[in-house]
Amino acid sequence: MELKLKPLELVAISVLLALSSLLSKANAVPQVPCYFIFGDSLSDNGNNNNLPTLAKVNYLPYGIDFPQGPTGRFSNGRTAQDFIVELLGFQDQQSMPPFARSTGRNITNGVNYASGSAGIRFETGRNLGARIPFDLQIFYHKIIILRLRLLMQNNSATNSLLNRCIYSVQIGSNDYINNYFKPESYDTSRRFTLSEYATALIQQLSDQLKRLYNSGARKFAVYGLGLIGCTPFTISEYGTNGSLCVDRLNEAATLFNDRLRPLIDQLNNNLTDAKFTYLNPTGSEADLATFVTNSSCCTIGGGGGELCLRNSQPCGRPRRYVFWDGVHTTEAWNEIVARSAYDSDSPLQASPFNIQRLATL
Ligand SMILES: *[C@@H]1O[C@H](CO)[C@@H](O)[C@H](O)[C@H]1NC(C)=O
Ligand SMILES: *[C@@H]1O[C@H](CO)[C@@H](O)[C@H](O)[C@H]1NC(C)=O
Ligand SMILES: *[C@@H]1O[C@H](CO)[C@@H](O)[C@H](O)[C@H]1NC(C)=O
Ligand SMILES: *[C@@H]1O[C@H](CO)[C@@H](O)[C@H](O)[C@H]1NC(C)=O
Ligand SMILES: *[C@@H]1O[C@H](CO)[C@@H](O)[C@H](O)[C@H]1NC(C)=O
Repeated sequence: MELKLKPLELVAISVLLALSSLLSKANAVPQVPCYFIFGDSLSDNGNNNNLPTLAKVNYLPYGIDFPQGPTGRFSNGRTAQDFIVELLGFQDQQSMPPFARSTGRNITNGVNYASGSAGIRFETGRNLGARIPFDLQIFYHKIIILRLRLLMQNNSATNSLLNRCIYSVQIGSNDYINNYFKPESYDTSRRFTLSEYATALIQQLSDQLKRLYNSGARKFAVYGLGLIGCTPFTISEYGTNGSLCVDRLNEAATLFNDRLRPLIDQLNNNLTDAKFTYLNPTGSEADLATFVTNSSCCTIGGGGGELCLRNSQPCGRPRRYVFWDGVHTTEAWNEIVARSAYDSDSPLQASPFNIQRLATL
């Protein structure tokens, strides 16, 4: 028997379906109970605002497309982490407060420890001033765990919560652009070849991830490095010698990523009750094709030269640009990167799983 519906019934059904999907969205339970964010300026949401450093952006035109205005995010609007937080079903980007402003109960969904100019190595970024290196971010996380234990008054419940969170780690760019490739401020390029340096960074990152594991982390989303040699600032600072980008910087990123992928595999094999995944922070070539890639949307010159000038007038259509300032990306591009990390099926983008799958494991 064929089911025949009159047009009006069809309209009623589609209205009901739309309503129920709206309602289920409003009541959505996040796919994981908590999300902790570690990293650098790509993820920072305000931790550097009160630090004595050039690497902070709590001024316009940063945040012109963000509901709360300038918050310390290194973008015109949301960061990639903001989009992932939304995709995971959290109510809004404010769900994970910056560690620097986390108080009371608002740490139970997670905390953002990321700090502009920070690196895997402790000294990284000191040319710009104060910052919270990854080692210190991990230490701050231990403080948050103590506070969670006090709030929850049940250690086994706290342990179980910590096991079910996702831990996002995107760090390493500054170990190159604010360390190895600044020989006037750092000696690493005289002590290590590029290949030795990548090996040393990955060894240190491995120890750091294991420390998070020892603090109860079991679901890790770890990002590789993007094409750090293709940003407008690095191109103007180093020159390309006829190439499209600064080849040596991209070579550095490739060496790092080529060691990070096998590290993720080893960690999955060795720590069998944990899940690690590798994510590519670069959108695909196809995505790039529709964007302006060869210039920044804002007028740069702030910070160490790579940030927008305070109160300068940005370009009229930031949605068309990849780069917001000399090195950081626009909200429009961040959304593409986040969606890919969240649900791409391509092993080039997410391997062995995307974040959506990581949440279910
Ligand atoms: C965290 O909660 C406190 C009050 O308990 C509030 O003052 C603060 O703004 C909140 N922080 C964020 C980032 O929501
Ligand atoms: C503590 O949490 C566990 C779940 O992890 C629960 O089974 C137990 O009943 C809780 N204990 C108390 C005293 O609430
Ligand atoms: C620039 O490119 C030329 C030709 O490819 C090469 O011989 C030269 O070594 C390059 N210079 C630098 C500084 O990379
Ligand atoms: C994993 O275990 C193997 C064998 O014990 C060891 O050689 C390797 O260093 C370990 N890798 C990591 C990242 O812990
Ligand atoms: C960027 O590329 C476009 C098109 O390829 C070109 O018209 C424009 O002059 C370039 N801008 C800069 C700053 O190089």
